[in-house]
Amino acid sequence: MYVQLISLHGLIRGKQIEMGRDADTGGQIRYVLELAKTLSTFDEIDQVDLFTRQIRDKRVSSDYSEPIEELGPKCRIVRLPCGGGTYLRKEKLWPFLDEYVDALISFNREQGKTPALVHGHYADAGYVARDVAEAFGVPFVFTGHSLGRDKLAYLLEEGWSNEKANHEFNMDKRITAEENSLSNADLVVVSTNHERDHQYARYENWQNVNFQIVPPGIELERFFPYYEYDLSYDQISDEFKQARVRMSHELSRFHFHQDRPLLLALCRPDKRKNIGALIKAYGEDKELQALANLAVFAGIRKDIEALGDSEQAVLTDILLMMDRYDLYGHIAIPKRHDSESEVPELYRIAAASGGVFVNAAFVEPFGLTFLESSAAGLPFVGTQNGGPQDIVKNCESGILVNVEDYEQIGAALKKLLTSREDWERCSTNGINKVREHYTWEAHCKRYIECVTEVVGSATPPFVQTVPKGEPHGKRLGSLSGLLITDIDNTLVGDDASLENLKLILDEYKETLGFGVATGRYLESAVEALKESGIETIDTIISSVGTEIYYGMGDFPDKGWASSLRSKWRPERIRNALDGLPFLFLQEDEKTQREFKVSYDLDEEIAPAEAIPLIHHELTKAKANYNLILSHGTYVDILSSRASKGKAIRYLSKKWKIPLAKIATAGDSGNDRDMLVGKTAGIVVANHDPEMEGLRRASGPIYFAQREYAEGIIEGLEHYGFIKEGVHEEGTT
Ligand code: GLC
Ligand code: MG
Repeated sequence: MYVQLISLHGLIRGKQIEMGRDADTGGQIRYVLELAKTLSTFDEIDQVDLFTRQIRDKRVSSDYSEPIEELGPKCRIVRLPCGGGTYLRKEKLWPFLDEYVDALISFNREQGKTPALVHGHYADAGYVARDVAEAFGVPFVFTGHSLGRDKLAYLLEEGWSNEKANHEFNMDKRITAEENSLSNADLVVVSTNHERDHQYARYENWQNVNFQIVPPGIELERFFPYYEYDLSYDQISDEFKQARVRMSHELSRFHFHQDRPLLLALCRPDKRKNIGALIKAYGEDKELQALANLAVFAGIRKDIEALGDSEQAVLTDILLMMDRYDLYGHIAIPKRHDSESEVPELYRIAAASGGVFVNAAFVEPFGLTFLESSAAGLPFVGTQNGGPQDIVKNCESGILVNVEDYEQIGAALKKLLTSREDWERCSTNGINKVREHYTWEAHCKRYIECVTEVVGSATPPFVQTVPKGEPHGKRLGSLSGLLITDIDNTLVGDDASLENLKLILDEYKETLGFGVATGRYLESAVEALKESGIETIDTIISSVGTEIYYGMGDFPDKGWASSLRSKWRPERIRNALDGLPFLFLQEDEKTQREFKVSYDLDEEIAPAEAIPLIHHELTKAKANYNLILSHGTYVDILSSRASKGKAIRYLSKKWKIPLAKIATAGDSGNDRDMLVGKTAGIVVANHDPEMEGLRRASGPIYFAQREYAEGIIEGLEHYGFIKEGVHEEGTT
């Protein structure tokens, strides 16, 4: 199995992960790295590539610009560009995701390998993974990590408006992408039951989703048991020993009785962490104060007044309560700690003292801190809402309470502090069972089981759009050549020769792809093809190159659309041209497209006179455009980046089919730029006079002696795409 994982935002590298450097470089980054590395050690797995965005930005390390970083013998980080080199926060990536899809498809074509599955992490990469998986007809796996509907609900509760949430976080984009991922994923991997039932359950399609609950592993090398200091002191690295000294010293600044067990709390200064209830539980209970010290590590601060409003409020409350309950000498509220080595040491210091880890947050979706404390041998008290339920079920290393009731918190803490038996049981269970249930090895074993099932089933049960025939990604990837022809007056016009061409295309279908490039809009192109008895096709380039589809219009190429979007201002064009007396907007409104405005030219005026006037108006209006005249009467104004020729160059790049292997055939003005240049251009004998100029054009252009589809056949023979002569008698 060749597994492709995608995780786009934040800073990802194999060594010295910059955890917490910004909001985008958090738990997910560790998760995908550990998943990639561990997965690649299994025999079932041939290769794991972790795809992320390539960043070329002086503000961050040049490590993030390396296209390839090896993580192991079968494991790499692959960095592909999208949206330029600047490091962007995740909310800003949306406009560039289609570009990433293209880059990844090209990467796969270049490698000549098809992934067994594509797994997108978070809404942004889910969007990309879905499209890539669809292109290659392989399963799409999704993990949300955190979800937009959840965050939006919280923001609204906090008094935000929908507009503000959209403006700051692009909430709509995120939620739409998540809905889409959920309705298309063959498998959704989540960490806890709670996540599925409370977070994913907010989505339209959640009941049809193939969820698998596979908890992540934790880093056991960092969270080794507290008793290792007694058992194998020499093997512990200096990094931890020094962190221990620093933290012990830090705590001693606060506590009168340093020999007492330590109650440890560790969380961001966030209202939802409910720190007040914990201090109340401690402050109200003199017995508890006599039994143990309390340490609250609530983030890192220099000056409370320099923090954001909500953090300020939380910390001020802590100080006021400490004063109210007169907890001097009992409670420590240190100002800083690092997460690499100091956090594990804090768990171990607390465990060695016979203490307890306590987290009073209302909900913990996963509860990583509970697992880490358990792994170090420190029993915990925490909320019954969310992930901790799974943890207690699997590990039996702590006590769950209703955290809204401070007395319950106090009672649970006292139970663990006073019953050595309970404490020992929870501590030993934690050390042993976290190692059984929450390792990356255990995760990957289960992961492989789940994905094998979806990779194996020919039509995965949860796929909603089953593509017809061979997926276009695989097909386009296997071709050695491609014929792209105009429809009207080139492909169609003479029935007998069209039948001949169809036989030839059928004979060569394994190696020669077939597509059309037309001025028609999609539905009209499909209709023309069907009328000619053509039922399958590789690609349709419609509306004069402004739209690209695969199959009979089944899959639009979104990358192409998004690359046309910039600087396209159709209203400027309409404003500038609608008033010109010799131009009439084309009547059939379907000819007016997102990237195409089309007019008919008055017969009374010579194009040579009209066209300069049109250019003049458009230049005055500062429009970016591409003007194309066909048959001396159709005037198409397209996005400046679009034309049949540009669409073909885009296809050539994306699917790695050299231009010389693409034969193009046409008869009139809008075909011109796909015939010139490196493509194997064919002009049929019945061409419009406006094509005569091409006889002097650069690159290979073949003027056929024969008309319509016979002209195409003649051209294909001329370029050696098909063998000469043998087809003439082919008709029935
Ligand atoms: C087709 C389209 C029309 C376009 C013309 C030339 O007839 O329907 O909109 O102007 O081709 O490209
Ligand atoms: Mg034509």
